[in-house]
Amino acid sequence: MPLVNTKEMFEKAYKGGYAIGAFNVSDMEVVQGITEACKELKSPVILQVSAGARKYAKPVYLKHLVQAAIEDTDVPIVLHLDHGDSFELCKDCIDSGFTSVMIDGSHLTYEENVALTKKVVEYAHAHTPYVTVEGELGQLAGIEDDVSVSESDANFTDPNQVYDFVTRTGVDSLAIAIGTSHGAYKFKPGQTPHLRFDILEKVSEKLPGFPIVLHGASSVVQEYVEIINRFGGKMPDAIGIPEDLLRKAATMAVCKINIDSDLRLAVTAAVRKHLVEHPDHFDPRQYLGDGRAYVKEIVKHKIINVLGSNDKI
Ligand code: G3H
Ligand code: 13P
Ligand code: ZN
Repeated sequence: MPLVNTKEMFEKAYKGGYAIGAFNVSDMEVVQGITEACKELKSPVILQVSAGARKYAKPVYLKHLVQAAIEDTDVPIVLHLDHGDSFELCKDCIDSGFTSVMIDGSHLTYEENVALTKKVVEYAHAHTPYVTVEGELGQLAGIEDDVSVSESDANFTDPNQVYDFVTRTGVDSLAIAIGTSHGAYKFKPGQTPHLRFDILEKVSEKLPGFPIVLHGASSVVQEYVEIINRFGGKMPDAIGIPEDLLRKAATMAVCKINIDSDLRLAVTAAVRKHLVEHPDHFDPRQYLGDGRAYVKEIVKHKIINVLGSNDKI
């Protein structure tokens, strides 16, 4: 099976009330853990690569790792650029075989975001086969902003802009800001995590049938945080998005849910635990093998309990 773009995947997900997991990858064990979980549960998947991942692993290694996963599992896979920040980076990925790209102009002015996104869409859609494009409107709060997401109302997506943005740019999906954020510290202790479903509803009223994307959607699995802290780590007050909120979003217009931090936590928990319990081990296959097993376990859990994408191949 060749790589696919997001078009048909999102049409089916929207109609079926489920979402596709978009998992960040930068090494072999994580690619294998994700795709083996998807094969067992018959789930389509998006493997996404950030600029940082390309720098770490080199584009050619990532491309061939994903190709190997297709040959090994026969799962429908989208190879997607996560947070592309320039036309040149998107073009490079499109030219080298990515089937989907994100152009993230969310930090630009509205008109600059429209212009940049439109330029990427024109290039991607003219490509054979058609490459799908994700745009973004609204800004997610980041840990670096030192402000919790619920305090940053000004940055939520404005539903009154989405129709104009989508029609003028021609994007295939849209990432919106409704209270999620990147990383392992999404809410402050004592805060009740919540998402602005009222904004999601207004967005889907303006764009009926149009696929919406949630970034920063890790749950920050407490079981892994606890293992990390028990085996020498220090991650106090790591808090994510509760699974029931994500499940609700997946039944609505959200067709793509981005998960990176939970996989990082899974690998770190497994490696820390393994090395403490087996101080004599020095073969990376022993502890990275545990990392791969933890990734597979958490991806299976997400597919069934959060995404609802099992038995969709
Ligand atoms: O949204 C960002 C992703 O988690 C990728 O992070 O830029 O550290 O690879 P990264
Ligand atoms: P998390 O940090 O919540 O996993 O978000 C990942 C993401 O949005 C990648 O684009
Ligand atoms: Zn993101």
